Amino acid sequence: MPLPDPTDHEPIQGPRLRLRPITPDDSVAFARWLSDPEVVASFGRPPDDAAETPTAEATAVGPTGWTFVIEYRCRPIGGIEYFHDRPGAPWSAGIDIFIGEPDARDRGLGTEALRTLLQYLFESKGLKRVTIDPEPSNRRAVRAYEKAGFRLDGILRRHMRIDGRWADIAFMSILDEEWPAAKARWEPPDGSA
Ligand SMILES: CC(C)(COP(=O)(O)OP(=O)(O)OC[C@H]1O[C@@H](n2cnc3c(N)ncnc32)[C@H](O)[C@@H]1OP(=O)(O)O)[C@@H](O)C(=O)NCCC(=O)NCCS
Repeated sequence: MPLPDPTDHEPIQGPRLRLRPITPDDSVAFARWLSDPEVVASFGRPPDDAAETPTAEATAVGPTGWTFVIEYRCRPIGGIEYFHDRPGAPWSAGIDIFIGEPDARDRGLGTEALRTLLQYLFESKGLKRVTIDPEPSNRRAVRAYEKAGFRLDGILRRHMRIDGRWADIAFMSILDEEWPAAKARWEPPDGSA
């Protein structure tokens, strides 16, 4: 089966953020974001030719899903993607996210990008489960994902190699019946962030 085109998707609009499909023009920004030390610590080093490689090849995750630029007040601040995480299970999707601009971290924007995508996946696509897999030591990521509504399923020990080291993975998920309560905690945007 052909892999999905990571650019072939409609934009997803949230209250404050817009998730728009990646374009070749985003390659330079993606290469810069993926070279940021905090992003490298989570995703490993990008390929040397990332800036010359259009669209999905310039992302951390490759052409396995749909990749979006996170825009806050028209400014691109990072990337988010979703992909079907189990063959033959179209009701389940995984998410990867990074806020590439350092000054945009710790302002609630990562949590809001996740909520915006979760709303789309549960309410428009009718998915049953969405997963995400930070390292347990990445406390900021775990906290942001919990705020968005994810719960810990379990720890997968030495599950990945990241930048030449072994990494444990905190496998987290949110189910469709849990989304309404998670959404209810999504405070109305006040525009002050
Ligand atoms: C992880 C990431 C997506 C989170 O997005 P964000 O916009 O920075 O996060 P938010 O501001 O929405 O939420 C962060 C929460 O973690 C908390 N936090 C920050 N640093 C923390 C730490 N060291 N320990 C515990 N909590 C921490 C913040 O206080 C905030 O919680 P609060 O709202 O209850 O105060 C973003 O920081 C990022 O991309 N980091 C670099 C790459 C990365 O780690 N990607 C994730 C790979 S799985």
